[in-house]
This record gives sequence, C-alpha cells and structure tokens, in this order.
Amino acid sequence: MSKIFKPNKDMFDNPVFRDMDDYNKLVKKFDDNYEGTWGELAEKNITWHKPFTNTLDETNTPFNRWFKDGKMSVAYECVDRHLENSGDNVAILFEADDGTNIKLTYNELAKNVNKTANLFVNEYGIKKSDRVVIYMPMILEAIYTMLACAKIGAIHSVVFGGFSSQALKDRIIDAKAKLIVTADGAYRKGKPYMLKPAVDDATKDGCDSVQNICVVKRNFEPIQKNKKDSFYHELIEKQSDEFETVWFDSEDPLFLLYTSGSTGQPKGVQHNMAGYILWAKLTMQWVFDNKPDDIFWCTADIGWITGHSYIVYGPLANGTTTVVFEGVPTYPDAGRCWKMVQQHKINQFYTAPTAIRMLHKTGENEPSKYDLSSLRVLGTVGEPIDPPAWKWYYEAIGNSKCSIVDTWWQTETGGHMVSPIASCTPIKPACATLPLPGIYAKIIETNGEPTPINEKGYLCITKPWPSQIRTIWGDDDRFVKAYFGDCVYDGKPVYFSGDGAMIDENGYITITGRTDDVINVSGHRIGTAEIEASIKENDMVASSAVVGKPHEIKGEGIFGFIVLKNSDTISKDDLKLELNKILKADIGAIALLDDIIVVPDLPKTRSGKIMRRILRSIVKGEPITQDTSTLEDPNIVGEIEVLYKV
Ligand code: WTA
Repeated sequence: MSKIFKPNKDMFDNPVFRDMDDYNKLVKKFDDNYEGTWGELAEKNITWHKPFTNTLDETNTPFNRWFKDGKMSVAYECVDRHLENSGDNVAILFEADDGTNIKLTYNELAKNVNKTANLFVNEYGIKKSDRVVIYMPMILEAIYTMLACAKIGAIHSVVFGGFSSQALKDRIIDAKAKLIVTADGAYRKGKPYMLKPAVDDATKDGCDSVQNICVVKRNFEPIQKNKKDSFYHELIEKQSDEFETVWFDSEDPLFLLYTSGSTGQPKGVQHNMAGYILWAKLTMQWVFDNKPDDIFWCTADIGWITGHSYIVYGPLANGTTTVVFEGVPTYPDAGRCWKMVQQHKINQFYTAPTAIRMLHKTGENEPSKYDLSSLRVLGTVGEPIDPPAWKWYYEAIGNSKCSIVDTWWQTETGGHMVSPIASCTPIKPACATLPLPGIYAKIIETNGEPTPINEKGYLCITKPWPSQIRTIWGDDDRFVKAYFGDCVYDGKPVYFSGDGAMIDENGYITITGRTDDVINVSGHRIGTAEIEASIKENDMVASSAVVGKPHEIKGEGIFGFIVLKNSDTISKDDLKLELNKILKADIGAIALLDDIIVVPDLPKTRSGKIMRRILRSIVKGEPITQDTSTLEDPNIVGEIEVLYKV
C-alpha cells in the first residue's frame, strides 16, 4: 500500500494550511528564525497578562525555559477567555454509559470550575504548587478538577482508573500529593464499577502527605467513609461560582503524568504552563483543522496524555466542543461510536488503532447503518496502525473522503510531533508522514549520522520545542539520562524518544516501535522491568523476561519466559493465573500476561544481561540473527525455541 491519498479540499474551509506551500513556508520560516517564529506564535495564541521578554532560554539545557517573564493562565486560556463572545457555545458534550447527554456551555463550565477551585482552596487549603492526584472516571467533575487545579496553580497528577491501588499508591507517594479527588465509581457496560475501594486500599498506610480525599458520587453504590474523606456534592453548593483569575509564570508547572520507562519506577513527566498549552492549541488547529464550531471527539481516557491534550486542554483552548464519553466503544454494540458520530454530528474523531481493529473485527458492517457524513478528519495515536485497519477506517468510516492523521507523539512531547496536517499533507497509509513545522525530528544513528533511507534508526528531536517535558518529578538526573543520554547530534546530546523509525526518499517517517524495554499494549506503555519485578514476587519464580508479542487486536500482548526454582510443581495455566493475580494487584488489568512458557534458563550474557532481542525474535517467529556465542550458555537459545514451538 504505497498509494498516496491527497486531502479532499472540499472538506476544508479556510484551513491554516491550504496546501504544501503553506507548510513549506512555515518550515522555512522556522529554519530562518527559530526563536522568532515560536515567539510570534506564542504572542498570537496565548493571552498574555504580561508579555514575555525572551522566547527560549537554553542556558541550562536540557532544562530549557520558554517565554520568560510572561504571565498567563491555562484556565483563562481554556475557559474564561471564551466567555465574552462565546459563553453560550457548548464546551463539553458529555455522553454517559447509558446514552444520556449533558451539553455544558463555556459559561456553565466556568461556573463549575470556579466552584471547584473555591472548594479546593476553602475546604482543603490547596495552594499553588500543591500536588493533587485525580483518580476518576470519565465524568464532568474530573474535568472541573483538572481545570480547577490549573486555576489555582496546583499541579495535578491524573492516575488512570485502570491502575491498581498499589500503582496509585506509588504515584501518590512519589508526588507527595496533598489531596486526592476520586469517585465512588462509575458505569461501564450498563453496570456500576468501583474506584473508591482502591483509594481506601492505597491510602491505608504510607501516604502521609495526603490530607484530604474528595469523593464525587457517581454511581451511589455503598462505600466506606474514612477520616480524611469528604463528599464533593456536600461541599460544592456553598462555593461561589466566581474565582478571580490568578496569573502564573510561563514556566510554572501545570501537571505531572506518570509513564513507564525502562526501569521499574514510573516517571513523573512534568509539563509547564505556557509551552504546553501553546502546542496543545496549535496542533488542534493544524493537525485536525479544528474550529470553534466543530464537535471534536477523542476517545482516550483522561488518565493518558492523549486525554490531557486532546480531550481537555487542546480542545478547550481552541474554544471547540469536546466530547467526554463515560462508556466503552463496544456497548451496547460495536456501532456505539458511529451512532454517536451521527447523533452529535462529530467532525473530528480521534482514537487508537486497537479500537479500530476491535471495531472492525466485531462490527464490520456497523458503520453502514449510520450517517457519518459530518466527519472531516479521522485520527490515530499510540501505536502503529496496520494497513487492513487503516483501509477499513478510511473507507468504512471516512467514506474515502476524510483525511486520516496518524499522529506520532508521546507523554513527554505534550502534543503531536510527526503527523500529517489534515488539510494539506498527502497521506501514505500507516505512516506518520512529516514533522510538524517547528519540530526537528530526525532519524539518526546514536552518533548523529543520518540513517540511510528506508533503514531503521533512532527517532530524535534535535531542537527544543515549547511543550517538551521539563523534568522527571524529583529526579533531574534521571531526566537527563533517560532522554539525553543516548544520541548526539551536531556534537550535542539531543532528545531521544525511545522509538525506532525509518525515513523514505520523500522525508516521510514511519514509526517502527520502541527500541527500549517498553511494551506497547493497546497503545499503553508498560515497562518490562515493572512487570518482571512483580512476577518475581511469586515465590516459585527464579527469574523471568517479558517481551511484546504481536497481537491481532492489542498490537502487542505480553509474553513471559519464566524460570522456576522447581519446575515440577505447577502447571503452566495455573502459573499464569497466579502471576496475573500479582500483576493485577501491582499494576492493573492492562499489564496481564497473555501467555507464558516455562524455560530452564534465560539467554544471558556472561555479565548477566538478558538478551531480550533474542526472545523478541522467537515470539515473532523471526530467524535469530544475533550473535549467541557471547551467551553464558549458547545452547539455551535452541532449547527455548523448541519449548516455544511445542
Ligand atoms: C507509540 C501517546 C506508532 C510510540 C501519545 C511512542 C506510536 C509511545 C504513535 C508514546 C504512532 C505513539 N505510530 N507508534 N502514531 N504514537 N506511538 O507516552 O512508541 O502513551 O513512544 O503517548 O507510543 O506513548 P504515550
């Protein structure tokens, strides 16, 4: 499938980029005047209470500072600034699991955010820089909470509701959170599910920093009330719906979001205010051609960066209507998303390849039952999309008219980096295409030499950009080592994404996947070290190595090679069950093993390092090309191959 698909011009009315000339002009402008161009964009796209004096300060690189001395407010940018002219426009279109809708205008959103901010200040004493952990379902109060934090200058850390109590606890402790905002639970597939018990469990001991736990009642199922608990609905009514805008420094922290790396400890990725919101807003306009009159739906959860940037901050900063969906795409049937597109006249739809594969497999003919003609742009994110899924998305959902934007980016990049621009970029299926203007994405060797065309190299970003990760919370050294320790360009350390990629003769970039010990399950990053540390908690296990194995729906599933202390004592199925119990408790249901085999040993070098690449080749059914002579026991590879094939 190397056919190129040109954007359908009829779909785009007055876009920012009319054609590739517009794209090339902006790229050239950045080439000629990097800082000046970013400065101009920031001046135009952010409301500055006090103008910045310096666009980019690299004195202490990679701890770069953007838009120095500027004063602004992310909450003002996303909410209050819309009130004068478009306060009656719908900000959030909420669809509950059971299909009921709430349309919330910007005026109403402002009042709810203000009340929530007042509640946090008055009842819990939350101040600028305090950390607030948000462990919530996809409900309106979760968005009020994020924006209320932004309003106060408190730093939120949203923890995905699918994470276990242990994972939640680790994140509460690492951030020294003062407040936790949660809910009793919510609804999924017509049934209530619970969140609060996980918070009870997480905070039983060791979370000394936590002073209050604010509980929203959503499903009204019985819950335990502990000393630190209070109920949102009991406190919110008495709060004023006014809250004077507080102006912050461009570089004041906005949020932390924990993500997996190659060691066991998740990293608290820190994003700061002005640079983050600038890029979230611009990419909404550039990549999706999103306009204030549009209805935009990103199906992610707010627990991930995609939810932060493209459900909450980007859409609201752009003054559009963002859809917040409590349910799942397959309930009551695999036509749910398409029914919602028809009913709400959605213009841009953004989802993960896993969801597309699942909806294709379970509801191939569902799209034809609905009128999807409101759609102009379709997006994908989080993992490579395969050609059959791409084709179905393009034809059955987009009616061969919509642009598909395959957006490559990361928690650390804050917003899109390499992606088609819907209105202008000719699309090559399943390809992230070109770096966005202002983004210097290069495919290089570790020494900075360009990787030859169509060969795998390292995907690096060679210049700073405004929405770049500022640090790993509490660990500046780890930040420098994790991102600036592997690749050099022009003699200087540069940001390495951890991803491999190839570039073709037209400069189009195709992502080939992680080069580090991170598995991408259904678009979610999970570190092998985290999984292996949990597996080791089982007393029968001597050691283990997990790798990603290609999976029809999930993209990658988790496959474990397990060495037991005494291999006769348990069946493979029972062992898998036992290990998955631990993984569910330690991390959550996203980290479960799909399959395992018990092996006598792992392929280790003489210095004890596991040669994971050999194991990856085995599960992919690829020939083993690595040199196995340096292994402690070269015969082990053959033995594992035989066991794998049984
Ligand atoms: C992967 C999600 C292929 C990649 C926004 C990256 C992708 C990781 C794509 C970041 C894409 C993201 N094609 N792979 N379009 N987009 N990835 O931090 O491996 O949850 O490093 O951010 O997802 O995952 P994260």
